[in-house]
Amino acid sequence: MSREEKFYVTTPIYYVNDIPHIGHAYTTVAADVLARYKRLAGFKVFFLTGTDEHGKKVEKTALGNKERPIDLANRVVKRFQDLWERLMISHDDFIRTSEERHKKAVQKFFLTIQERGDIYLGEYEDWYCIPCETFLTEKQLLDGKCPDCLRPTERIKEKSYFFRMSRYQKKLLDHIESHPEFIQPQTRRNEIVSFVKEGLRDLSVSRTSFSWGIPVPGNEEHVVYVWFDALVNYLTAIGYPDDKDKLNNFWPAHVHLIGKDILRFHAVYWPTFLMSAGLPVPEKIFAHGWWTVDGEKMSKSLGNVVDPNQVIDQYGVDAFRYFLLREVPFGMDGDFSHKAIVHRVNSDLANDLGNLFSRSLSMVNKYWGGKIFKPEGFSKIDEELITVALQVVEEVDTFIGELAFNQVLSSIWKLVGTTNRYIDNTSPWAVSKDESQKARLNTVLYNILESLRMLCILISPFMPLTAEKMREGLGGDENVNSWSLKEVKSWGRLKVNGRIKMIAPLFPRIEC
Ligand code: MSP
Repeated sequence: MSREEKFYVTTPIYYVNDIPHIGHAYTTVAADVLARYKRLAGFKVFFLTGTDEHGKKVEKTALGNKERPIDLANRVVKRFQDLWERLMISHDDFIRTSEERHKKAVQKFFLTIQERGDIYLGEYEDWYCIPCETFLTEKQLLDGKCPDCLRPTERIKEKSYFFRMSRYQKKLLDHIESHPEFIQPQTRRNEIVSFVKEGLRDLSVSRTSFSWGIPVPGNEEHVVYVWFDALVNYLTAIGYPDDKDKLNNFWPAHVHLIGKDILRFHAVYWPTFLMSAGLPVPEKIFAHGWWTVDGEKMSKSLGNVVDPNQVIDQYGVDAFRYFLLREVPFGMDGDFSHKAIVHRVNSDLANDLGNLFSRSLSMVNKYWGGKIFKPEGFSKIDEELITVALQVVEEVDTFIGELAFNQVLSSIWKLVGTTNRYIDNTSPWAVSKDESQKARLNTVLYNILESLRMLCILISPFMPLTAEKMREGLGGDENVNSWSLKEVKSWGRLKVNGRIKMIAPLFPRIEC
């Protein structure tokens, strides 16, 4: 298999000091949609997610709970894994940074960079923000506080290993400038360019003030800086350093999906580490926006953190997945509210898609006894529907490539709307009354079902449960070929002579 046929997508690995919220669910669902779409397109996909378990923040939380950090990690990791199962996340691996394979990878990566002459022992004295696990200079502070999270910082003075990040300033800038797709969206890319242009300082990559981390090879008084440790997860999971075949197959990653707050770590630290280690940098880093809740920042102190489990209980898995990716352009900030999700469910899902599906199956049941007949010749109105369907297939592919998930969905809904109008304009209820129009009825009903078949495949990466139900309604394997994008490249692949099956409404309306 050539590189063109492979696809490696990652989410950030989540800290275990906090339980999962909608922000975590957001990136993971987006990555899942990409993974599922690429699998449909025939790619060999590797989709990675996991947990970031080391560092001062996790150690501090564990101490506060009077438990060992590993016990905290073991408890919280389950919350993430259970949620991903409920959300139908199709990851190929789940990495925990406390695993032995990861320790080995981090130590090897550290040694490789050290052997390049890019790591030296020095002394660190500066400010540190524990919640962000980040070093700050006096100049960066805002009234003594962290400029990102506005929480108090600590003065830290200790011996530390440093990475010669300054050496890679020019190389990184050249790479960013010659690869416009490397950092997305554009506004974020510009921020990184200005940051790098201001000058890169060498980076402290070890700590001695706590012990919950991976020991620095050769000097066990130090543990590796948690961000150095965490970023290497993207290599560990694909076999670094020993499994050369897997590594060559999937590295560099096609896309790291992250939130905007952790862009600098991914777009500056990570590529410079990789350059030093002699490895290629990822193809694309995409930073999405942040969710607020009812217009407010989501925070524990405000008590407004949204638990994805509750949203799933209330609206269902697919409605939640749909809402996350439909509501806000990926890359922009968005607002979560029950009002907004109810509106989406009732209008897009229950009204547009759900109604289309049930009215179509009912007609086939009523006029055809549930059987699928062969279409007999297409007229202009049929050709119009077919043209829109094939156009939508193309658009979906383009928008997926741009990670414009909301545009993918609005394009798919164009086909939903067009099919609903096709039914209104062809009026099968009238045609069915005219014996001489039997052939016409065959064609119209076939086209409606064929459009549903296309929709079922196109929505499957976003709403896997609904797609399964639609497939069942369309008669399952007997009538619908394999799940593959090839099946939507041409019109008329729904098999004839089979039967549809009446199923419960896809999305009942939510009464408020
Ligand atoms: N452990 C690091 C990532 C290491 S990756 C090598 C980390 N973890 S985190 O759990 O704090 O955050 C994980 C992700 O959640 C980040 O991408 C962050 O942007 C995202 N979100 C946290 N709150 C969010 C919102 N309110 N909205 C959207 N995403 C948010 O950082």
